[in-house]
Amino acid sequence: MAARALTQLQLDRRKALVRCDFNVPLHEGRIADPARIDASLDTIRYILEHSGSAVLCSHLGRPKERTPELSLKPVAEYLSTALGSKVALAPDCIGEVTQGLVAALKPGGALLLENLRFHPEEEANDRDFSHELARGKDLYVNDAFGSAHRAHASTVGVTRFLAERAAGFLMMREITALSALTHDPARPYVAILGGAKVSDKIGVIRNLMAKVDAILIGGAMAYTFLRARGVEVGRSRVEEDKLQLAGELMAEAGRRGVPLMLPLDHVVAASPEAGTAETVETIARDRMGLDIGPHTAEQYIARLQGAKTVVWNGPLGYFELPTFARGTLKVGEALANLAGVFSVIGGGDTAAALSNQPWSARFSHISTGGGATLEYLEGIELPGVKALETRS
Ligand code: 3PG
Repeated sequence: MAARALTQLQLDRRKALVRCDFNVPLHEGRIADPARIDASLDTIRYILEHSGSAVLCSHLGRPKERTPELSLKPVAEYLSTALGSKVALAPDCIGEVTQGLVAALKPGGALLLENLRFHPEEEANDRDFSHELARGKDLYVNDAFGSAHRAHASTVGVTRFLAERAAGFLMMREITALSALTHDPARPYVAILGGAKVSDKIGVIRNLMAKVDAILIGGAMAYTFLRARGVEVGRSRVEEDKLQLAGELMAEAGRRGVPLMLPLDHVVAASPEAGTAETVETIARDRMGLDIGPHTAEQYIARLQGAKTVVWNGPLGYFELPTFARGTLKVGEALANLAGVFSVIGGGDTAAALSNQPWSARFSHISTGGGATLEYLEGIELPGVKALETRS
């Protein structure tokens, strides 16, 4: 990556606009999972410890105008506790009152700007808005890997006005881990792909097929592949309009000699909420597949033995319910305990399913990106990363 590192910036008595991804899940106004905030704490601490001041900014949710429920207030409170010093919340991300707070910020101090998306100009990557965001700051630090696939004012536009810029530590960790998957990965290289829809993963499957030595498929999307192979899948979720595509992807894998493994047994129920589940090899007409079965998990774990690189995107079952999370957790634990493998867990649902386990820390990297990670794995250049690149 041609971006400068945070450690290369002169921070002393300078004000840095720090774009973070504090787009955390909220439940009844409280932060349900602070992982994304925690992941940027080292960047913020570094700036403060080097006598810089940090003007933190982020979006939260997808508001189109000022929406009180999507205020970053809970994030300011969380940051104050985590950093051990008060992080005030500015009433807005631009405007004279906010500028006054930025001007008053002392070296070692942090201020959080209010939700960027209260202004539609943020997503429009508006020039004047970008200029306003940059006003009063000396430097730009982007630590928001989760938003790097968005060409917005705070991720791209602002770099026109803040020439001195760098990637934060989280951004660097993400890019380093993900680029190791695409640039000369150690082999054997295995991809585990799950999730609900084939349509969400087409680009990833296509791009990874050219790079990996095997693809293990799970999640609801496995049933579209199985049906395309002519296997009875009962009432399992199938994307009827993607059957042909699934067939083409399997044919392409065959031409390339890349094994594309599909589940051999299944945990089924009449519906996710039915309460009773059973393991079967053949899915009855009134049942739906909701997780890979134990035999499939063993087969997938056997395929992972000896792998040197593994990327995983998408849970292997309906992991929100513990009954259907077993396959994901069994394969996850085996991967975490595998020696000598570089393992990267994609963000979003995959991270939600596989983090907070006693063995989660053994993965090489758990990405904080959802859409950003997916686009990276599709081989798409991320505008937020590109905008950090410097020619000098
Ligand atoms: C995410 O959660 O994937 C990022 O924060 C981006 O959010 P968005 O999809 O609303 O742009």
